[in-house]
Amino acid sequence: MSHPTLYIPGPTEVNDEVLAAQAQPMIGHRSAAFRRLFYHLLDQLGEILLTDQHIYIVAASGTGLQEAAIRNAVRPHRKVLNMVAGAFGDRWHKISVSNGCQSVRVDIPWGQPVRPEDVAAQLEAGGFDAVTIVHNETSTGVISDIAAIATLVRTRYPDVLLLVDAVSSAGGTRIAFDDWELDFMLCSSQKAFALPPGLAFAAVSERMLKRARTVPHRGWYWDLLRLEDAVQSERATPTTPAISLLYAAELQMQRMLAEGLEQRWARHHECMALTHAWAAQRGFSLFPDKAYASPTVTCLRNDRQIDIPAMIDFARQHDCVIGNGYGPLKNQTFRIAHMGELTPADMQRLFNVLDMFLLRAAGQSD
Ligand SMILES: Cc1ncc(COP(=O)(O)O)c(C=O)c1O
Repeated sequence: MSHPTLYIPGPTEVNDEVLAAQAQPMIGHRSAAFRRLFYHLLDQLGEILLTDQHIYIVAASGTGLQEAAIRNAVRPHRKVLNMVAGAFGDRWHKISVSNGCQSVRVDIPWGQPVRPEDVAAQLEAGGFDAVTIVHNETSTGVISDIAAIATLVRTRYPDVLLLVDAVSSAGGTRIAFDDWELDFMLCSSQKAFALPPGLAFAAVSERMLKRARTVPHRGWYWDLLRLEDAVQSERATPTTPAISLLYAAELQMQRMLAEGLEQRWARHHECMALTHAWAAQRGFSLFPDKAYASPTVTCLRNDRQIDIPAMIDFARQHDCVIGNGYGPLKNQTFRIAHMGELTPADMQRLFNVLDMFLLRAAGQSD
């Protein structure tokens, strides 16, 4: 179907067959057909998220699972550490506070990653049940070294749970949930998974479920033990699942595994490298340090002082949708996502359109 191509950091392009898979007839969610679908999806997700531990699929956007993580990990009178390096780190903090947690918030300048030493410096004080981190800050285009942070937390603070927002990285780059010993990782369907919005996936460690058993008042919808019980008892889900989206997810996971995870991650990396090269040639510098540049979304400084809304409008007229900077970075930066289904050829098509705009803008200022 002809439509504008999305180069925004979610929702992303969805393959036509995956879109069409949603149109299958409904089945009862306590039927054998549904159980087959759901447990197959759990297996596929385990393969993609590199875990043999627990997976939950819920009808919500990713933010719902941020709330689930907090509700299940933090006991009364214990603290949660929120590392905030952008808009989505700030969301972890707001969710912690609004759920009544004692939160210690650490602000890191936007454009910088969360570093292991910053986490360690805070955990030293003791009394923490969990630390929240955004793996890939979509607002700044920065990816943090979660493996290094996890090594530090696991060796020095074994009782502190690591809660990771991987909404805009999971499926687009390697995250070794089990090997890195993460405790909770949340993903949204509409990013590098290249599905419509509406589903969220969590990988959950045994350690996290053990903790949940000691937390009173975990809520109902977000009680991990209730989700686990449904999976174990073969009821699959405690409430009515988003069946149409699950049809699409099963096909999309199959497509992802057929492409090959390594190949898929490499394609994201290649699209990132092409974006960096185009930007450098056109005089736009990266907002983050190159070492921490996100493989799924590039955030560029408006070094040339161009009219970003005009560029976005121009691109839209040529069937390409790109993103302005997020919040306070609006018009100072712009963002080009390269996640999900996008290929190097798609990136080149966008660069051609942006080049046309830049040429015209240069002509007008002559
Ligand atoms: C890093 C990150 N975390 C969380 C979210 C929120 O996800 P959702 O909109 O699926 O709730 C987003 C959305 O863009 C995000 O990029």
